[in-house]
Amino acid sequence: MSKERLLELRELLTRYNYEYHVLDKPTIPDSEYDHLFRELQDLEALYPELDDPSSPTKKVGFEVLDSFNKVVHDRPMLSLGNVFNYEELKQWASKIEEVFDHVEYCVEYKIDGLAMSLIYEDGIFKQAVTRGDGVVGEDVTSNVRTIKSIPLKIPYKQRYDIRGEVYMPKSAFEKANAQKRENGEEEFANPRNAAAGSIRQLDSRVAASRGLDGFWYHVPNDINASTHYDSLMYAKKLGFKINDNIRLYDNIEDVWKRIEETTLIRHELPYEIDGMVVKVNSYAQQQTLGFTSRIPKWAIAYKFPAEEAKTVVEDIFITVGRTGKCTPNAKFKPVKVAGTTISFATLHNEYNIRDKDIRIGDNIIVRKAGDIIPEVVRSVKEDRDGSQVPFIFPDRCPTCGGPLIRYEDEAAHFCINTECPNRLVFSIAHFASRDAMNIDGLGEKRVEVFFNEGILNTVEDIYYLVDKKDKILSIDKFGLKSFDNLCSAINNSKKNSLERLLFGLGIRQVGEKAAKILASHFKHMDDLMNASIEELSDIKDIGPITAKGIVDYFNNNKALIENLKIIGLNMDYIDNSLVGDSPFRNKTVVLTGTLVSFTRKEASNLLENLGANVASSVSKNTDYVIYGSEAGSKLTKANELGVKTLNEDEFRNML
Ligand code: IVH
Repeated sequence: MSKERLLELRELLTRYNYEYHVLDKPTIPDSEYDHLFRELQDLEALYPELDDPSSPTKKVGFEVLDSFNKVVHDRPMLSLGNVFNYEELKQWASKIEEVFDHVEYCVEYKIDGLAMSLIYEDGIFKQAVTRGDGVVGEDVTSNVRTIKSIPLKIPYKQRYDIRGEVYMPKSAFEKANAQKRENGEEEFANPRNAAAGSIRQLDSRVAASRGLDGFWYHVPNDINASTHYDSLMYAKKLGFKINDNIRLYDNIEDVWKRIEETTLIRHELPYEIDGMVVKVNSYAQQQTLGFTSRIPKWAIAYKFPAEEAKTVVEDIFITVGRTGKCTPNAKFKPVKVAGTTISFATLHNEYNIRDKDIRIGDNIIVRKAGDIIPEVVRSVKEDRDGSQVPFIFPDRCPTCGGPLIRYEDEAAHFCINTECPNRLVFSIAHFASRDAMNIDGLGEKRVEVFFNEGILNTVEDIYYLVDKKDKILSIDKFGLKSFDNLCSAINNSKKNSLERLLFGLGIRQVGEKAAKILASHFKHMDDLMNASIEELSDIKDIGPITAKGIVDYFNNNKALIENLKIIGLNMDYIDNSLVGDSPFRNKTVVLTGTLVSFTRKEASNLLENLGANVASSVSKNTDYVIYGSEAGSKLTKANELGVKTLNEDEFRNML
């Protein structure tokens, strides 16, 4: 039985490793991973005959992605052993103190980011490499180069390898997620994933826009120092960002005090730390202690425990998304977990509530998954006094009163009333989102304001906002400039190719990919609308459920499509492949200033024929700003945001 468990754990941990290191999408909290890892280590000690060099306990990370060049590290980039309490820390120190009379410990924050090695040659920054599997990492130089605190030149001529952590400050994380929300994209689970996701971008501009930073904490075999602390001070002089909170102690009790103090203040720091690292300071002692195959014996990580708290469920309520999906949520008495106060958590669906047996009035244990997203761990059944009320999933939508249904293939309930106010707000925002009709300035918040003002109830209404100038300008914080920008974004969206419209309509099962397949297959909206389930199911990658969803949708929404035609929306597929290899294909371009050889209109038409989306305002989503004489604030903004700018000659050369 235990042997089977051992094999099962190897398989599980290998998968979790892959999700964490390669996909940047962990599916279990770190604390649970550590727990399973420990269980596997214990079983492996019991059954040495099952030794396997590819066990997750013998590995540091996982293989690298193919999209970046692979680089062999000068010296392996190792991980650290973990301890979780004072006794374990003391045990680790005792073994070391058996060898030496006097040991000095260097205590540092364990930065929660992405391990990185920076290579300098002849004083010049040459390469940044991720840890990868510890032996071979990924070359992410162009992305790391964009981190402002990393020196590109140092006053040191020999080859220099400094290691540390690239991380995303909490403020940058909030910003990145606000942007994701605005774009209707899935948010990052935590700053570590956000940092890793940003570093893995193939377009370094994305990484540059994410506000990443780095702390450097290890120079392997530094010939410029005889202690770890001095090597960091030397690195600081060379220009590297070294954390200010590094401390030296000559006994493990003081180290523990430092850990306890930090535990209390860690959430006040502007970046995430997930523990503390304790290192033997003397290089000579480090050398005597050496390494195992995976970790140094002269350093250890103390991991903070996952924080949980007890609170009471005050209510369970349903929210309705754009597809009509009804999600139950727990509202609980506000409670502080991992530094912030939380009072809501999703309960996902009816089955989850039933499995965990969560009732209104129950005491529950909550935590933050990945230290960010509130999660209900369990209900405390032993605390029940009989007053707790089981939640009965409603059969009517809480917003519009319409009936709820359950599709065969889904755990969730759905409101099928297309007039449901919640559905309307979210579906209008989806229609306007970047990957759909790309109407800049019409995010979820703004749609909700317009909806509440009574000027935006359907997607058709978007195209009549242009006539509501007075009303819109009377809304708080809405200036003339925002109004003009919004109007031109709305007008531009009329010219979008059919697939954007199809995706924006929010037809069940029709995501971006299916929308593209349908648009390129049928070419015209009318032909798609007239297609039968059989005809649709014959198309590669369109299954019968999607086909039925499409036919049902058009049966119910003929009037909407007719109205959109009358408004002037393009209903044809614009085949961008016809414009060949145009460098402007699918690019967002802004024109500013006066051009000599084209009028603004001519340049704009030309770009659109080449597959570009011509926008009126510059944002970090802009690909090019083409400028003529007397270009003003748009050019300045482009330079500030690092958007590529082209003068007229450069533009003509690209044509
Ligand atoms: S020292 C050979 N110091 O934590 C020793 N690591 O869980 C190299 N980490 O792989 C590591 N803060 O990515 C060290 N102050 C710190 C650290 C730190 C974060 C990371 C590092 C390491 C991981 C182990």
